[in-house]
Amino acid sequence: MSKKIVVLISGNGSNLQAIIDACENNTISGEVAGVVSNRPDVYGLERASNSNIASSVLDHKKFDSREDYDLELIKVIDQYQPDLVVLAGFMRILTPAFVTHYQGRMLNIHPSLLPKYQGLNTHQRAIDAGDSEHGVSVHFVTEELDGGPVILQAKVPVFPEDTSDDLAMRVHEQEHRIYPLVVNWFCQSRLAMVTNGQSHQAKLDGLILSPSGHAVD
Ligand code: GAR
Repeated sequence: MSKKIVVLISGNGSNLQAIIDACENNTISGEVAGVVSNRPDVYGLERASNSNIASSVLDHKKFDSREDYDLELIKVIDQYQPDLVVLAGFMRILTPAFVTHYQGRMLNIHPSLLPKYQGLNTHQRAIDAGDSEHGVSVHFVTEELDGGPVILQAKVPVFPEDTSDDLAMRVHEQEHRIYPLVVNWFCQSRLAMVTNGQSHQAKLDGLILSPSGHAVD
């Protein structure tokens, strides 16, 4: 049976679009059952409606605490009965209760070669550090912010004249390539997270992945 995916967004939703497109052309054997945004009026919501996908807005500004927000968010997401929750530019720090609820079935994309540059402003930080290489990581979500086991990374070069926007654009192209690939691995039941106490590892086709994820040519 086709796997149900719920995508969480906070903005433009270009990764959401890549996933919608991949579902529509069967590159992902799954369907986007719903899109949830913590911000009203973002373009990602329009993308959902253009593809006749149901969406919900849960505005974080209307809640007093992160805990209350996340408990309500679980209710909204679970209405769609997802097999997989995909964070695609969802710019919120998640509570332990939320992460535990979706443990092993929640993915995130982060614009850096993790464990480098967890948090914000990753492109500028790579430039400031004089890195010659930058990139993007897809990982399982655990309680540690941007710290869950990496599944796949893609690298891009950093050129001396690059601005943060140049680099962001180069990274985005790779994001749209690797996120649908990883989502499909999950939908095909090839990908899982293995947990031993506090330690987590990603497993693809029965093999534990290295800390930088699956090695692609
Ligand atoms: C993407 O670059 C994604 O990697 C980043 O937000 C952007 C969302 O773009 N996510 C994070 O920084 C999470 N820490 P999109 O809305 O066009 O998909």
